[in-house]
Amino acid sequence: MTEPAILTHNLTKTFNIVQKEPGLGGAFKALFKPHYTYKTAVDGISLQIDPGEIVGYIGVNGAGKSTTIKMLTGILTPTSGSVRVLGRDPHRQRVANAREIGVVFGQRTQLWWDLALIESLNLVAGIYDIPAPRYKQLLEQFGEILELKELFKTPIRNMSLGQKMRAELAAALIHEPRVLYLDEPTIGLDLLVKEKIRTFVRQHNQTHGTTIILTTHDLGDIEELCQRVIIIDSGKLIYDGPLSTIRERFGRQRILTFEVAPQLFNRLEQITAGLRLPPSAQAAVEDDEVCCKRLVVRFDRLETSASQVAASLMEQVEVLDFSIAEPDLAGIVRQIYLGALNQPENERQP
Ligand SMILES: Nc1ncnc2c1ncn2[C@@H]1O[C@H](COP(=O)(O)OP(=O)(O)OP(=O)(O)O)[C@@H](O)[C@H]1O
Ligand SMILES: [Mg+2]
Repeated sequence: MTEPAILTHNLTKTFNIVQKEPGLGGAFKALFKPHYTYKTAVDGISLQIDPGEIVGYIGVNGAGKSTTIKMLTGILTPTSGSVRVLGRDPHRQRVANAREIGVVFGQRTQLWWDLALIESLNLVAGIYDIPAPRYKQLLEQFGEILELKELFKTPIRNMSLGQKMRAELAAALIHEPRVLYLDEPTIGLDLLVKEKIRTFVRQHNQTHGTTIILTTHDLGDIEELCQRVIIIDSGKLIYDGPLSTIRERFGRQRILTFEVAPQLFNRLEQITAGLRLPPSAQAAVEDDEVCCKRLVVRFDRLETSASQVAASLMEQVEVLDFSIAEPDLAGIVRQIYLGALNQPENERQP
């Protein structure tokens, strides 16, 4: 059996926060007689990630994602529970751990602000003792795929956000770590740069077998890179499993939108209230952007089919056209963040 790349058991982090009253007096009081409150940012998380997996780690702002990543990298010590990365304790064996991991925090740069990119990379290569021929080879590869060649001589401070993020990725991966943590790597980037970064991460995972944990609020990142997602809420794990299962469980709702004859507009509400529809189907009148009225029917695809809904409606109303929509991942995840996982099966919105 292969050893897991990452293994945590009841991993917990509680921050002690000093409460300070306003003003200088308050500052002194907090210094000499501190009054603490406690915040459990990560609350008993147990997970196992195997070598080569790309796992999406998601949750609302403040859910505890970055705090988890910081414990996995060894920046923070857990308050309780255990963590192993490639069999090591990341905090106690910080140096050995650092050789095997790469980290990108999208919100802040880890490169030397005033140095040209190539100087930064040379320093990283020196720190990690990368053999010169291998370093040359990787510079060539990363320069090509991340389109960094023209930027090697540019100082980080003169780079655009997208250029900086590509540079960060190169610096995080130049020592070929076995585990990569990406904390919001596409934040603030345009669609084209996001796409480049996703392609690079996917390719790197495939060619190197790197284990990757990705935290992001951009569900496009998750859709394109992760088969497995872990969702946390207030520090607790609320879902760990395939992305496809979430879609199946929460993506049952379908929406049929009907365009009706304009002469029906003034009595459409009345018509809608009197409709007889198949099980689970619910009709409503909605205004579209060009102030036309539309008849919108939502239904559970496991209870009835789109063709049944359409046939039933067309028997009762004069319809000019119709279209069908599936909920997107963003809609599904919004439902989960709002607590849909805690609802019993029959109360859940399809
Ligand atoms: N050093 C710290 N001291 C005190 N509280 C902290 C500290 N770091 C994080 N927290 C608190 O822990 C909770 C989790 O923060 P964390 O940064 O892990 O969230 P996150 O899931 O990464 O959120 P975001 O999506 O906004 O990046 C928050 O309530 C935060 O205020
Ligand atoms: Mg964060």
